[in-house]
This record gives sequence, structure tokens and C-alpha cells, in this order.
Amino acid sequence: MADRSVPLPVLPWAGPTGHDGAMAPTLHATRAPDVPRVAGLPLLGNTPAFLRDARGLVLRAQAQHGDAFGVRVLGQPVTVLMSPQATKEVYVDRTANFSSERGWSFTIGPLFSRGLMLRDFDDHHLHRRVMQHAFRRQALAGYMTRVNALARDHVARAVAEAGADGVEVYRMTKRLTLDIATQVFVGVDLGPQSDLVNDAFVAMMRASVSPVRREIPGTPFAHGMAARRRLQGFLTGLVEERRAAAEADDLLSRLAHATTEEGRPLTVDEVVDHMIFLLLAAHDTTTATLTVMLWHLSQHPAWQDRMAEEVAGLHGADVTIDSYKDLVAGELVMKEALRLSPPVPFSPRGVLRDCEVAGVPLRAGQMVTLASLALHRHPDWWTDPDAFDPLRFAPERAEDRAHSHLYVPFGGGAHICLGNHLAELMTKAVMAAVLAEHRVRARPGQRMEMAAVPIPKPRGGLHLVLA
Ligand code: HEM
Repeated sequence: MADRSVPLPVLPWAGPTGHDGAMAPTLHATRAPDVPRVAGLPLLGNTPAFLRDARGLVLRAQAQHGDAFGVRVLGQPVTVLMSPQATKEVYVDRTANFSSERGWSFTIGPLFSRGLMLRDFDDHHLHRRVMQHAFRRQALAGYMTRVNALARDHVARAVAEAGADGVEVYRMTKRLTLDIATQVFVGVDLGPQSDLVNDAFVAMMRASVSPVRREIPGTPFAHGMAARRRLQGFLTGLVEERRAAAEADDLLSRLAHATTEEGRPLTVDEVVDHMIFLLLAAHDTTTATLTVMLWHLSQHPAWQDRMAEEVAGLHGADVTIDSYKDLVAGELVMKEALRLSPPVPFSPRGVLRDCEVAGVPLRAGQMVTLASLALHRHPDWWTDPDAFDPLRFAPERAEDRAHSHLYVPFGGGAHICLGNHLAELMTKAVMAAVLAEHRVRARPGQRMEMAAVPIPKPRGGLHLVLA
């Protein structure tokens, strides 16, 4: 375990530490009068550092201040909590102190409003139960034939079109997950028009981290809201069509036919709101996971061989709800990719009443955020935290089990990811499509750096050779 009593270096970009300029309280101090604040720029606070390098910002602050500190981003003071115990207390939230709706509204709020993650307590519970209909085993099984076929098509096309420097794998996986989103989730084949949906998402994500939160013409926020309205228009007609027809094998049809326990179907607007959020939740997260896995495989050929051997055992058959758990090496590599680069690096919450979390006092009305991107590399808990080492998840070592909330790529508590099994199914189907016929290679000396916000993606793209 790291010795936290050793004085830590002052950050080059930080001014005096602590809200009163005094040195920060130590990591394990309880009942600190307030958390130390990471110094930032006048007016802008820590926003530029957050947008430039969110991981660097929180890891340096953690090294200096410990597991709780304050930053100011997008005009809001936010307390960052990164111990497993605080993560547990906030996610489990036994006394209903934390609002996901308020937390997430801060960034994606008006753009993805009334999505499942932007609902709380009874209302959230009701909608989650209805939506579970689209994530049952039988529904998941029904999505997989098309997922496998799309994965094979996209990989073959990307390889055929690759230039001398290989395949741009972020672009390939993004197009693929977008096609999965439209064809398997929405049930339409948009062809070249799928760029319109993609452009809408890019505009909405850019708007989510825009400091200007009003629809002033020409601003990213106004573009994002206009994109939302285009998606609403596109989806509304489709929901009505699906509802008029028998329930089919696409996620939109499943949602359109889902009912509450009392037999009430969701309204058309509710289905549209859920679908817009689901497209977001499914698309960039899976893209980031696949990109990071492909990168690590290019650096670790032995793991690639292990995964390819498992895939060969499928004898060309699809990855299905019955077979995906047999891909054990694939699972270890996926877990390690999600540890090192969690696609949802922060889980913000609004504090509803004065309370205390893992010894940190919080006040009603303030914002807190959990930060898996730092928790997953916490030096007190992980062996060689920055190293790619999938075996840390093997049963003999099980480093992730040291605390129930040390490893939380899919969140925890009432809002735990509804699509976690689907994400694993999709990821394994795509990796099988790649490794059935190819090996992934990087150029000598090639490097990859992931930006964490607004969505995790490789800076400058990522070209890899699929030979
Ligand atoms: C590797 C891929 C994915 C990762 C890492 C991921 C991660 C997460 C995380 C961390 C949360 C909780 C955030 C919070 O509590 O603040 C979440 C929520 C959610 N995710 Fe995922 N997700 C992934 C893929 C998917 C997919 C494929 C779907 C659906 C098709 C999906 C649907 C959802 C939904 C609906 C919620 C909201 C749940 C609720 O509020 O009750 N996710 N996801």
C-alpha cells in the first residue's frame, strides 16, 4: 500500500492548496471541515484542465490531496470522491441523498432529458422496470444474429479499404456501433444517412461540455439542441409504426410494446426519450471499449493469441447468449480495458440533503462526482495500476474483489448499467469478427493517448494494421 504520509509534490499548475490556502487535510482524515480545492484559473476554474486532460487533472489532485477534493468545472464547484467506500455509499445511497438526474443534468441534461439515468427514485424505478423488457435474455438473444453479421461486414470492409498505415480502428468501431444502434436497436437500415444520426450525436456530445448552457444561435449548445429535435422527429414516427405492428426483434419495438406492471404502455414521447438516451449509452461506450481493447492487443500479442484460440473454438459460429461466457480470455482483456479507460469516467450526483460520505461532509445543493477513471488506478488498491495485466481479474488474484466498489465500469446501485450484458455480447462479437481472420499490429514506437471527455476517444485517431 502507498504511504500517504510522505509529502507530495505541489502541482506545477496549481496555486495554494485548500480553500483557505492551507495544506490539504490528509487522505484518511475524517470530518474535514471542507475538502481541499484544486486551484484553477480565475472565472474558468479547472475547466480548461478538465477538457484538456481530465485523467491528469484528477490523478494529480488525488496524489496531492487524497481521495476527496473540490474542482470547479463548467462553472460549478464539484466535490470529487474516489475511494471505494465513498463510491459504495453514493451508488448504494441507502438514505436517498443523491440525485442522478441533478448530477447528469449538469452536462447532458437538456440534451438527453428524461433518459433513464436522468430520472430518480420511484419514477426511475418504474421506468427501469418497463425498460428491462428490452434487456431480457430472450431479447438479447434476438439482437445477436444481426450484431454478428454487422461485425463481420464492417471488419471485412475496413480491411479491404485500409491504407498503407492500416485501419483507423476508432472510425471502424464507431461506424459499426452506430450501425448496430440504428439497425439492431432502432430497426432501420439508414445506409449513407447514418452519418446524419452520427452528426447529431457528435453535436449533442459537444454541447454537453459547452460552458454556454443557453440556446444562443451559433453556439455548440444551440446546435446540440437542434440535433436532439431532429432525432425526436425521426424517432417519433417510427415508434408509432412499431406500436401498430406486432412486437419484433429490435430494441425500439421491444420498448414500444413494453408495459408497466399495471399494463400501461410508455407514451410515444417516453419511448423516444428513452431511445435517444439508449443510443448515447450504447454507442460511444462500446466504441471506446473496442478501440482500447484493439490497442492493447496490438501491444500484447500473447493475449491476442489466447483470444484468437478461443475464437477458433467457435468454428465460425456466431457469438451468442449461450456461448459468450466461454470466451474467458476475451472477458479478462475486456475487463482490463474497462479498468484502464472506463468509457463513463465520472458519475456525477446532486446532493439532496446535508450528509457525510466516507468521512467527507457534503451539503444539500452541491455536486459530487465519483471518478472511476482514478479509482480504477488507485495506487492503494491495484498492483502496478498503469500496467495492462488482465490476469489481475483471474480468480486466483481477483484484485477487483478487494472491495465491492473498487471496480465499477458499469456503475453500481439503482442506476447500474442496464446494457452491461449487451455491451459484453457486442464487444465479444466484434472481437471475434476481428480475430477469426486477422492479427492486430501497431507500428514500431506507435503510441496511443485516450482523451477522457466529452467521450473517451484516441487523440488524433488510431491506425492499426489488421493483417
Ligand atoms: C462497455 C460499454 C458500457 C459501459 C462501460 C457502460 C457504463 C455505464 C455506467 C457507468 C452507467 C451508470 C452511470 C451512473 O450511474 O452515473 C450506465 C448506465 C446505463 N447504461 Fe451503460 N454502459 C455501457 C454500455 C451500454 C449499452 C450497450 C447500453 C444499452 C444498449 C447501456 C445502457 C445504459 C442505461 C440505460 C443506463 C442507465 C441505467 C439507469 O439509470 O438505471 N449501456 N452505463
